[in-house]
Amino acid sequence: MKKISTFLISATLAISSLAATPTFTVDAGQSVGKVSPRLYGLMTEEINHCYDGGLYAELIRNRAFMDDANAPAHWSVVKDTSSAATIALDPTNPLNNNLTTSLRLDVTRAAKANAAGVANSGYWGIPVHSKTRYRVSLWAKAGAGFTGPLTVAIVSDDGKQVYATQKISGLTTGWKKFEVTLKTGTVAPTARARFLITLDQPGTVWFGLVSLFPPTWNDRPNGLRKDLMQMLVDLNPKFLRFPGGNYLEGDRIEDRFPWQKTLGPIEDRPGHPCPWGYHSSDGMGLLEFLEWCEDMKAEPVLAVYAGYSLKGAHVNPGPDLEPFVQEALEEIEYVTGDTNTTWGTQRAKNGHPEPFKLNYVEIGNEDWFDKSGSYDGRFAQFYDAIKAKYPQLKTISTMGNDQPETSHVKSRQPDMIDEHYYRSTDEFLKMSPDYAQKYDRHGPEIFVGEWAAHEDAAIKPWDAGARKQPPTPSLKAALGDAAFMAAMERNADVIKMQCYAPLFVNVNPGARQWRPDMIGYDALSAYGSPSYYAFQMFSRKVGDEILATASLQTAVQGCATRDSKTGELILKLVNPQPTEESLNIEIKGASALDSKAEAVLLAGCPEDTNSISRPRNVTPVTLTVRGVKPAFTYTLPPYSIVVLKLKTHQ
Ligand code: AHR
Repeated sequence: MKKISTFLISATLAISSLAATPTFTVDAGQSVGKVSPRLYGLMTEEINHCYDGGLYAELIRNRAFMDDANAPAHWSVVKDTSSAATIALDPTNPLNNNLTTSLRLDVTRAAKANAAGVANSGYWGIPVHSKTRYRVSLWAKAGAGFTGPLTVAIVSDDGKQVYATQKISGLTTGWKKFEVTLKTGTVAPTARARFLITLDQPGTVWFGLVSLFPPTWNDRPNGLRKDLMQMLVDLNPKFLRFPGGNYLEGDRIEDRFPWQKTLGPIEDRPGHPCPWGYHSSDGMGLLEFLEWCEDMKAEPVLAVYAGYSLKGAHVNPGPDLEPFVQEALEEIEYVTGDTNTTWGTQRAKNGHPEPFKLNYVEIGNEDWFDKSGSYDGRFAQFYDAIKAKYPQLKTISTMGNDQPETSHVKSRQPDMIDEHYYRSTDEFLKMSPDYAQKYDRHGPEIFVGEWAAHEDAAIKPWDAGARKQPPTPSLKAALGDAAFMAAMERNADVIKMQCYAPLFVNVNPGARQWRPDMIGYDALSAYGSPSYYAFQMFSRKVGDEILATASLQTAVQGCATRDSKTGELILKLVNPQPTEESLNIEIKGASALDSKAEAVLLAGCPEDTNSISRPRNVTPVTLTVRGVKPAFTYTLPPYSIVVLKLKTHQ
């Protein structure tokens, strides 16, 4: 295959007025529908260490000692040949009723040159950056007679380099909160480091909660990792669907997302079992989700628990379901209520008096798994209660058109329907040209609330086989993504919202449960997959009017929109073939086209991908296209995605 660099040059030069080439026609004279203003958004849940060990910036793993009832997981003793210490969980000395155990540290032998204590290795390492301030907060109490000092420090794994250190004194026999700042000097960034708390004399100390935060996005105290937030903001998302996904439902009813217990100070949050196989700290609580939306200027799409959990238990509609309906109404009040309401007051107490704007509420998640057939009744009960109290809110049913007709919600008309598509690139390429013909233009709006292309039809994202593949997808998958996004954009009059899933993956061994994922990271750095860049190319440039398109004799798929304010035409084209494709682009009915246009191009070999060590191996390039006129030829490289921005003189 031609090298991409030489191809880019020939692609920009290959504009001419050829006749016998395949044609992509755009009717710019007539809009066939309005593009939903909230078409591109994000979906999120705790999976693949998305929050804990991911976006949520907390660096201490098992900070409240609640991850494992039997052992202080992720904590270890620090000592040398001349010092001695032991650690154990101590449920007889809890910090409070929420954090029902503490960590007891007994240092039996120690001296100034021979400290002993406890270490936490974070989520696959503590990231150390140059000249950076880290906020330590910890709850501690001591045995009679010991008042300190404790030394807190970030230290290299081999113990040879101390990156930052501070002393804490004034311990008492009662619980007290201590806060200090650790500041690093000029260092080579590394994640091969641990957080240590040591004593230089014998003593007993209990820890109730130990927290370490690097600088966060917008400096929020319980905030989010800056590099990952920047990557999300760069996608220009219009909404955020949360908190799941399976994470909303939990394995059992009692494991559903416990929004009430995720509010307030972190020392009041016990966390809960995440269905993806680990304990969630609930540091990412309901308010953090909402503030995350605020920070991205995206609107929340709130999913409420609807009485079905993953291991198959469901709550019968009727009186049994009523407490869950009330729980959802209260949750909506927390989000939207003013400070005269009970839950609006609570939100103000938690630091956010301003209500959040909410338009959509999703009732459950993937309820087609509930084989009892109870969803129709459950949906109806939630629908009636939500509409009675919040008539302006739109309800989303999780029973998509991709599910058998017999299982659809019948007793109420949902405002919107959430459909999920995890398909191979080949399947997406096949289904995309005709996709959406099935939708009733007068029927419910469509939300494609989870979708992603994987490369190999034989390997499903949740299979053991998927675990052997790299965590993030290759360009081949991005081609499938782009074909499907073009289909959704062509039908953005009925498909009002769409979001890729899952969003994030911690790439360390053992961290992931699902592939492919859009953004990969370790403790130190992050990268976007080709799917990330394909999504970014689509989401950052979209008009508000859908234009009719037709492609003849070509495997190229595409879509076109127009920005009614500027007159700009935006064409998105996907060439999934191993050969270049010279395309005759016909623009009908456009006012004068500028002869110069901008093209954003993503291309390469199908197996090309990005990773921690090669984060920008596949990234879009911006090119200038000359010779644009109502009929012109544009040559698409093999395996490529292009966004053409054509200016018009109105
Ligand atoms: O995105 C991963 C999972 O796929 C979601 O949690 C669930 O809704 C779907 O089955």
